[in-house]
Amino acid sequence: MNELRNSIIVHADRLLTPDGLPPFKGSQMRNINEMFDVDIVIENGAITDIRLHKDAHITAKLVTPGLFDVHTHIPFVGSRSKEFLMRTQGRKYVEILQSGGGIHHTTELVRNSTEEELFLQSKRYIEDFLSHGVVGIECKSGYGLDVENELKQLRVIKRLHQTSFLKISSTFLGLHAKPKDRSLDSYLDELKTVLPQIKEENLAQFVDAFCDAGAYAPDEIEQFMMYAKTLGFDLRLHADEIENVGATKLGIELGAKSVDHVLKVSDSDISALSKSNVMVTLMPNTSFYLGEGFAPARKLIDSGIAIALGSDFNPGSAPIYQPGFVMHLAIRFLKMEPEEILTAYTANGAYLLGINSGIVAPSFSADLVLWKTSEFIDIPYMFQENFVDHVLIDGRIAI
Ligand code: NIG
Ligand code: FE
Repeated sequence: MNELRNSIIVHADRLLTPDGLPPFKGSQMRNINEMFDVDIVIENGAITDIRLHKDAHITAKLVTPGLFDVHTHIPFVGSRSKEFLMRTQGRKYVEILQSGGGIHHTTELVRNSTEEELFLQSKRYIEDFLSHGVVGIECKSGYGLDVENELKQLRVIKRLHQTSFLKISSTFLGLHAKPKDRSLDSYLDELKTVLPQIKEENLAQFVDAFCDAGAYAPDEIEQFMMYAKTLGFDLRLHADEIENVGATKLGIELGAKSVDHVLKVSDSDISALSKSNVMVTLMPNTSFYLGEGFAPARKLIDSGIAIALGSDFNPGSAPIYQPGFVMHLAIRFLKMEPEEILTAYTANGAYLLGINSGIVAPSFSADLVLWKTSEFIDIPYMFQENFVDHVLIDGRIAI
């Protein structure tokens, strides 16, 4: 880790930041404050002032808030390249999952790996995220599918959090796939008995479930999710990605913080979402990778819904994490505006994870990306290029 500096001043030739208080819903996502030739004054990890340029320690062509990837499946080990080939030959993601591959394949590898192996592989991934301007990510379990290995994943996330610059939020996704080796009832009962321990040891902020065709039906998880909520967990759902099974509706009923994927949402789901405070997490690279179509982002935004973006980084449906590529797909296939993308990746993402960041303004954490280009659009335009010059997290130079 870097030396601690109590005070640092960053000069921005150009500063772009969401403007106001999150969450930014619908058209508010396009409210971007643009400033030129300013100094961002940072003291004890927080932004204290933005003023016309006088004197700075470090300078950049463009400064934005740090990026938040609100949906990844770290930690995991191993590869699913055989499955990738199977899909190119016509097999479907859910078909592979139901025949015991997919998530189950990674589960076997995770069960057979030590905590140390899982930690080292994941640490390498999150350092790559950081090098691309990501200051915060969400990580989740879900490749254990038994109590011992789900807890192993959660402990690895805690260790990643303790040993890294990144702000890491943890999610318990015990309900990722149905275990192959036991009855659903006995699995649910066992998970229920371990939830209080997860809470007590502060191993997870969120509880999530894969509520979709080939995974869990709404009525199979509703009670469990309600119980998690009574214990004080925030809820999220993998919702209606493969088919509309009513997962988005369940998410709204449960008061989830977000519903994620939602490729197959209906107009009535969108209307219900627009009347709720549920955020929608979109991950266009999963759509790209699986070839299953894209979420109706324009309809969602134009209905006044708040959007966050994520990579869904996982070894099966999205072995991709570069934010530039996610942004590229969001512009091309979700038809999002660059301003909307910036807000989704910064202020809305931070808000979803409960982190006081994602906006460059006094009193927010000094989590900043200093870019080598003055044009934000260059990042999605030339997505293979890494335009990151420096990354600051809590005012410390992490890159
Ligand atoms: O978000 N949809 C469910 N879970 C992941 C995929 C995980 C995997 O295939 O390993 C997703 O796409
Ligand atoms: Fe996912």
